Amino acid sequence: MLHDADILALLTNRRPGHSLPRELYTDPAVFRMDLDRIWYKRWLFAIPACEIPKTGNYVVHNVVDHTVIIVRGDDGTIRAFHNTCRHRGSVLCKGEKGSRPKIVCPYHQWTYGLDGALIWARDMGADFDRKQHGLRPVHCREVAGLVYICLAETAPPFEDFVGEAARYLAPHDLVNSKVAHQSTIVEKGNWKLVWENNRECYHCAGNHPALCRTFPEDARLIGNSGSGLASELDAHRDRCEAVGAPSEFRISPDGVWRFVRMPLLGAAESYTMDGKAAVTKPNSSFPFRNAGALLKFLYPSTWNHFLGDHSIVFRVTPISPTETEVTTKWLVHKDAVEGQDYDLTRLTEVWIATNAEDRTVVEDNQRGILSPGYEPGPLSSDHEAGIAQFQDWYAATLTGVPALRDAMAAE
Ligand code: FES
Ligand SMILES: [Fe+2]
Repeated sequence: MLHDADILALLTNRRPGHSLPRELYTDPAVFRMDLDRIWYKRWLFAIPACEIPKTGNYVVHNVVDHTVIIVRGDDGTIRAFHNTCRHRGSVLCKGEKGSRPKIVCPYHQWTYGLDGALIWARDMGADFDRKQHGLRPVHCREVAGLVYICLAETAPPFEDFVGEAARYLAPHDLVNSKVAHQSTIVEKGNWKLVWENNRECYHCAGNHPALCRTFPEDARLIGNSGSGLASELDAHRDRCEAVGAPSEFRISPDGVWRFVRMPLLGAAESYTMDGKAAVTKPNSSFPFRNAGALLKFLYPSTWNHFLGDHSIVFRVTPISPTETEVTTKWLVHKDAVEGQDYDLTRLTEVWIATNAEDRTVVEDNQRGILSPGYEPGPLSSDHEAGIAQFQDWYAATLTGVPALRDAMAAE
């Protein structure tokens, strides 16, 4: 196991424009530092709000050591609490999701309201003050129909992301959507390998036959190339912005989030095998079908694709130094009827295949890195500037020293 100083030295001395030293993808001490400085400090995407549409609906989200209840209250507000009883610490909600009018501890039945207040505890004596024993809150924000949490005592600034997310997602009605399908896979790879794979499409032509029918490989379309943005973006941006849909490439100064609306290949409307829309009752306000895809990422927990007819949200959650959970949810208009307005296979087959293919390449990558013969190799400036951008954000977040390089600069 490495010491903190060793880890920071590895980050400081890493070779720019290359994959990272092995230990950063494998060492338990690095994983612990990732948790302490990133996963337990930053804002994380948790769930789409439409997953808990009614009072009392809840979901449990586990992030390694932490277990969190996300619940819709009597007032309609979504709140998050540590899933640990204020009596002697039992977990409160044991399943993944459900609905209940109150939160009752399974151990001694202390009972909490949906706002976290302790409302009943048996025989605790005259001096017991229920007000001092409400559930411990977790920072929680609903933004444009997506729920984010932060496990830190003091959450980092979030307002710039909140403002931009509300603006870019305005044409996408995620509040009036529903989860048509969800999949959870565990990839035997470090969470940073999952992200590095996501941040480049250099691997797409060789691995994603279904996705490549509609998803353009050109890294200049999403700002992942050292040679800038593609000129085709301008026409697509102008066409979408003319109907009120913010579309230009925008990345935060610290590189933690990015939005860009890119065209799909040819006249494709959606991520389907024939490129036609998958849902006839769309959950966006676009007056045309080929609106492309609004691509969003927020490190370290989510990337999303918002299409004209539906949206797909991905959530990354680390499990161990070499295991990562990836959950995918397909969101369609809440009134869209399966078998009538969409066919579930048609809606999901491209990304189910793509996720499985990505899992394979990530696991192969991890196994090769575990080999003593591994040596960090060079990134493609044309295709993998997104990886360099991710690594710069990662190193800056762990070391506390901002990256000197321009996020878009060629390596
Ligand atoms: S631990 Fe919850 S009521 Fe005792
Ligand atoms: Fe991929």
